[in-house]
Amino acid sequence: MPQNRRIAVIVGSLRKESYNLKVARILAELAPRHLSFDFIEIGGLPLYDEDLETDPPAAWRAFRDAVRPAEALLFVTPEYNRSMPGALKNALDVGSRPYGKSVWEKKPGAVASASQGAIGGFGSNHHLRQSCVFLDVPMMPQPEAYLSLIQKAFGPDGALADDSLRQLLQRFIDAYADWVEKILRGPGEIASDQHPG
Ligand code: FNR
Repeated sequence: MPQNRRIAVIVGSLRKESYNLKVARILAELAPRHLSFDFIEIGGLPLYDEDLETDPPAAWRAFRDAVRPAEALLFVTPEYNRSMPGALKNALDVGSRPYGKSVWEKKPGAVASASQGAIGGFGSNHHLRQSCVFLDVPMMPQPEAYLSLIQKAFGPDGALADDSLRQLLQRFIDAYADWVEKILRGPGEIASDQHPG
């Protein structure tokens, strides 16, 4: 049994009835038990302004303090105008500073994007990946999760009604658990586990 891992979940939508929030909650439910998930709010963060670093807003401090202890990151986001929502980009920026004190660095990450459109937030998903390269967040390459027409996956009671999506989410979160271990433990330890003695 792998050791317990603390995961910071960042949802790119601020909407109460957000499909991405629903997907994030389902991923947390489907995840192996050694992963625990902290859903971190991003809606109250003042827009990033370097001038404020002399006395950072309380909301920035609280956000940085919430993400810092996490060992890994899980992003679930909609696409706004073929990119990530401004609130999510702002959260990335807030967490990346002050220079040299980023709360993101070297934490294994993954992104799922859910959209009511036909291409599943591909643009958002990849703009986030682009920022994560600079932030030194190793992002899980596969499986990708572009969840299109997400509104059709939920029944009138609000529950997930699409078994193939549930299976995809199960594969995604199982692969994520493996990715987190692979990155946190490093290739040497994984290799020695596979070849005991
Ligand atoms: C959207 N939506 C959207 N969808 C898409 O597939 N590509 C896009 O570029 C956009 N752009 C966009 C911009 C803005 C400002 C809004 C509000 C919406 C639609 C989007 O997929 C839909 O609203 C989702 O339901 C948003 O995700 P949540 O809030 O349900 O998680």
